[in-house]
Amino acid sequence: MCGIVGFTGSAPAAGILLDGLKRLEYRGYDSSGMALNRPEGLLCLRAVGKVCKLAEKVAAAPEELRRSCCGIAHTRWATHGAPLERNAHPHLDQSRRFAIVHNGIIENYQALRKRLTEKGCEFSSDTDSEVLAHLIAETYRGDLLAAVAAALKQVSGTYGLAVTTSLEPGRIVVARRGSPLVIGLGDGENYVASDVAALIAHTRQVIYLTDGEVASVTPEHVEIRDLDNLPVEREATGIDWDVSQAEKGEYPHFMLKEIFEQPDALANTIRGRLDFEMGTSILNGMNLSPRDLAAIPRIVIAGCGTSMHAGMVGEYYFEDIAGIPTRVEQAAEFRYRNPIIEPNTMVIPISQSGETADTLAAVREAAAKGALVTAICNVVGSTIARESGRGVYLHAGPEIGVASTKAFSCQVAVLLMMALLLGRNRRLSRTEGLALAEEIAKLPELVRQVLDRADSIRDIARRFAQYDNFFYIGRGCLHPTALEGALKLKEISYVHAEGYHAAELKHGPISLLDERHPVLALANDIPGKDKIIGNIQECIARRAPVLAVANPGDAGVRDLGCDVIEVPRSSRFIAPIPTAVALQLFAYYVAAERGCEIDQPRNLAKSVTVE
Ligand code: F6R
Repeated sequence: MCGIVGFTGSAPAAGILLDGLKRLEYRGYDSSGMALNRPEGLLCLRAVGKVCKLAEKVAAAPEELRRSCCGIAHTRWATHGAPLERNAHPHLDQSRRFAIVHNGIIENYQALRKRLTEKGCEFSSDTDSEVLAHLIAETYRGDLLAAVAAALKQVSGTYGLAVTTSLEPGRIVVARRGSPLVIGLGDGENYVASDVAALIAHTRQVIYLTDGEVASVTPEHVEIRDLDNLPVEREATGIDWDVSQAEKGEYPHFMLKEIFEQPDALANTIRGRLDFEMGTSILNGMNLSPRDLAAIPRIVIAGCGTSMHAGMVGEYYFEDIAGIPTRVEQAAEFRYRNPIIEPNTMVIPISQSGETADTLAAVREAAAKGALVTAICNVVGSTIARESGRGVYLHAGPEIGVASTKAFSCQVAVLLMMALLLGRNRRLSRTEGLALAEEIAKLPELVRQVLDRADSIRDIARRFAQYDNFFYIGRGCLHPTALEGALKLKEISYVHAEGYHAAELKHGPISLLDERHPVLALANDIPGKDKIIGNIQECIARRAPVLAVANPGDAGVRDLGCDVIEVPRSSRFIAPIPTAVALQLFAYYVAAERGCEIDQPRNLAKSVTVE
């Protein structure tokens, strides 16, 4: 949730660190800071608010300090301690020779703080993180790597950590447990970050640290060890994102850019994965033989937020297309409810970032119970992707906007291709499989048709932007789509929006309806439409303004006199994707009309790496 950046080389560090922080701002922030390492001492600058506030301080710092070529920096999303300057990172030890930036939570910080205070340490923040600076100073015997490893042995909790000391100019030590940390390899310079987005302007060669590892990073060397000081060999991974993918370009917001990227993102997700000869899909990353696939008795999907909603669409696919009993777990619940995992149960963690703490915990629980863990992730080399061992990447490119958009569409497309594969492995005929493969192949074009209607969706959104409460209703695969549409609206426009199964309204929520409480009904022409039309009539009878999503030329819906967002006609399995894109645009334009900070919605962070 917080972001870490570090640089060591021969170029001035401050500008590189600021640039990295700006690229990480999307993860959530309330303050930021940097420590520049020079033999004559550390320079630590911190500021509350956006990274531009820190940039102002850097610009005002004396020129000689800005020439430091090694430093660490941080954007903070407050957990322990209010968003004040004294709580912003970096934190220094008392001698001001050691600086740390930390993501995660130190669970035993109170006990450590008490012991250190009794020893005479003075703390200057309310954070859990500050203990790390004092601990490292206490354990230091001339080697920062050894000191960090020794300090971390006393710590319980999670960390992505970067440390530097004026006693060793040019050196940064990083460590990870439960919070991502990646090292970017340059020529005579090296980088560290919590997220590859901070690095891709400089290098595409990265090394991902795994839990329990510490690494020393200097301009010329990277050395990885475990906490027992044993050397670890790790190959670098190539990142295929380019810088423009991580920039807004001509779009006012990342979210809008990513909504409009969906035809290309879907094309990348689908490319080479449909087999029109056999009417199936080819998902090599699943690494399961037809015999393995046939032995899967049950599927459990785990995810959070948007990824969980995609999983809920997938539940329909696996049961309907492949006939495999499937359930979806909120990932946070997975390990606490002691789920039933039979031999060969396939557990599918879904995570755009591949770093969400709850989903990662579900992966570990599933693996411990002997499940076939098959992840769906976007970020290549992310922790969930690596620990799952098998899976399917989205290839959607970096998703920077805090509100997830293209990841949802591509997750649903992957789930559909998985269901096609499993279906063909069981009861689906070649003809049926072929028909589905052909529909999947048309997804980029269908989504393009939705985007072509963006102006009309914007006009409708402007009219509906005045309302403070919404219900979104749908049936079948469009029920989770309604949940996702409501989530999009509430997270970026702060409008209260609830998704319901359309049949559920009359079991309670309908009592809230009146002329100030609109209902957005997903009335695509798929099985269940007649029932939705009945539900719309119930809402209209309660004077609720109704906005329907429907297919072109659908007189049945238009005759009801409600506003309509048109999406192209498709089968019920395909419908969630173009419909979700229309709902993303609707939420975006409502938020824009209400003047909200779309890419950095309040209280939210892109990647939730704490439980
Ligand atoms: C909503 C959103 C979140 C994420 C959730 C899981 O727009 O982005 O609900 O979907 O935090 O994140 P990942 O998919 O990275 O595990």
